[in-house]
Amino acid sequence: MPALDDTLTGFHDYIGVTFAPEDEILQSTRRAMADGGLPSIAVSPSQGKLLNILAQLAGARRILEIGTLGGYSAIWLGRALPEGGRLISLELEPRHAEVARSNIARAGLAETVDIRVGPALDSLRMLHADAREPFDLIFIDADKPGYPAYLEQALPLLRSGGLLIADNTLPEAVLDPAGESGAKSYNTAVAAHPQLTSIVIPALRGRGVDGLTVSIKA
Ligand code: SAH
Ligand code: DHB
Ligand code: MG
Repeated sequence: MPALDDTLTGFHDYIGVTFAPEDEILQSTRRAMADGGLPSIAVSPSQGKLLNILAQLAGARRILEIGTLGGYSAIWLGRALPEGGRLISLELEPRHAEVARSNIARAGLAETVDIRVGPALDSLRMLHADAREPFDLIFIDADKPGYPAYLEQALPLLRSGGLLIADNTLPEAVLDPAGESGAKSYNTAVAAHPQLTSIVIPALRGRGVDGLTVSIKA
């Protein structure tokens, strides 16, 4: 992703310090991820805060996350849920799920967050078969080439008026008319989708500029 210059790094730090200071739980979650050898690719604190606000705004009681890693974004989202709310998070790597479960338990969210291990497309198929209550918010943040398929599989699981959010949706590939990436195809698809009203929100991350695409379902 494009690197930040000094001014943008300053803005990034200012936003984090002012709006999204991490408490002890979030700090130890990050530490446990590093100690467990997980990549440091979780959402930034300010993106976590934005996810938390969007979940509250959506009145979310049921959230689906695709791509758990160490549970960092799940904790920001899980904290937006009311008593009895539920977050289902899908993760391919058993080792990531193990670190996430321990972080989520420390956050007091063990009863709220349900991590399902396996390829997300398989877990999504099972969710379809379940035919449970639809989700109020779905957050896509797993392998990027999978985004178009996750869109197709996740959208029927989202309630009317619900929010669909995807991370890492401002890759440099969008600047090149011939550039290809799963996230770019995802943006094109949601922007043109008759059931969705969408925008990408640019986001400063420690490592550069990125984006979150937010869509509301008609
Ligand atoms: N949402 C997390 C970051 C997720 S990183 C946070 O912000 O805290 C992406 C995760 O997706 C990784 O843990 C990776 O193992 C997982 N992943 C990759 N391919 C997947 C697949 N096919 N199904 C489910 N998870 C997958
Ligand atoms: C990377 C960042 C992410 O937010 C993610 O979900 C996957 C990968 C990265 O910087 O490589
Ligand atoms: Mg991400």
